[in-house]
Amino acid sequence: MKAILIQDYVADPSSLIPSEVPTPRPHADRPLLVRISHCSPQHADILHAQGKHQNNNPKRGWCHPPFILGYDFAGVVDSISPSYTGNLRIGDRVFGASIGAFAEYVAVKAEAVRKVPPRLSSEAACAMEGQAVSYAAVVKVAKVLPGDTVLVSGASGGLGSACCTVAKALGAKVIALAGDEGKAKMMRRDMGVNAVVVVDEGGKLVDEVMGLTKGRGVDVVLDNTGMVNDAIRCLAYVGRIVVLGFAARKGVMESVKMNKLLLKSATVTGYRFGEGGRRDPEVLEEIWKGYLEMMESGKLKAMLYGKYEGLENIGKALGDLAARKVYGKVVVKVADLEDKAKL
Ligand SMILES: NC(=O)c1ccc[n+]([C@@H]2O[C@H](COP(=O)([O-])OP(=O)(O)OC[C@H]3O[C@@H](n4cnc5c(N)ncnc54)[C@H](OP(=O)(O)O)[C@@H]3O)[C@@H](O)[C@H]2O)c1
Repeated sequence: MKAILIQDYVADPSSLIPSEVPTPRPHADRPLLVRISHCSPQHADILHAQGKHQNNNPKRGWCHPPFILGYDFAGVVDSISPSYTGNLRIGDRVFGASIGAFAEYVAVKAEAVRKVPPRLSSEAACAMEGQAVSYAAVVKVAKVLPGDTVLVSGASGGLGSACCTVAKALGAKVIALAGDEGKAKMMRRDMGVNAVVVVDEGGKLVDEVMGLTKGRGVDVVLDNTGMVNDAIRCLAYVGRIVVLGFAARKGVMESVKMNKLLLKSATVTGYRFGEGGRRDPEVLEEIWKGYLEMMESGKLKAMLYGKYEGLENIGKALGDLAARKVYGKVVVKVADLEDKAKL
């Protein structure tokens, strides 16, 4: 089969091209072989390809060359190991996350995939696979209520854009932050948020957010980029901040003066979705149930960026992500499998 194989880490992931590798077989540990129809490159794939992700750590990591790149995918169950005891059958449309997704086939653990809900396209399921964290952050952690004003940083990104959509679906007013005016223009056109504010070096974003909220500040900040100090400045009294990521910090973390929290009676909560799920599988299932219901009802729609077809375009997709051209989710169509799926 064709796959994006990392023989050695690369400086520039946009240079990656597919090569021929043996097709995997399902086995006791990875009992489901999925033929991939779509995959969705994300920031972590760039770091994996460059050897800069914590998973590449020579001592503690598990992702070392040679390996097949990629994580989020959708596809069709192609074959099943006799050891498998679950409910999936050959021909079922599934989506999931497992290393090795930038390929024509991937062998996965039973818990790595779920059935695509009948009314959802495989493309949309693939785009939304990694974003259940948005539902968890908005509904379970920030406990956003109808009428709340919610500020989202990194709102053009996969997680940020999904946070905006979930908060809007709950009846909140959403202010999205964008990296530049060009992106902001497209986000105003496509994202259905109440306002888009451009992040700047000079701190004007705080004035703009305070202006938009008539000096009151926002009830909730969902911080995907690492801007807790500005988040506190934008916050209303007894507001809450959820720290989700540090996309803009380049590895250098912020210091926060605790008196600023006291003055606003602010709550700051960190949230790590993967760890939460490992520690409490029941809550994870609740999150997936709520998230999938929102998707199936049409309240939550995938925001797709551009059109990418074939594994030979993975490099372009990763290059566009690295250059911050993208807003929403990139999905690469690997194969047209609708006729092979049980619909
Ligand atoms: N807590 C959790 O469980 C969890 C789960 C998944 C992801 N995360 C984290 O959440 C963050 C967002 O993830 P994502 O998948 O949405 O990433 P993404 O698609 O790459 O989006 C990140 C966004 O941050 C903005 N940004 C600002 N400065 C940036 C910089 N120097 N480099 C890159 N982007 C920059 C970009 O928007 P503009 O260009 O418009 O500024 C971009 O759209 C990441 O830090 C990720 O590790 C956390």
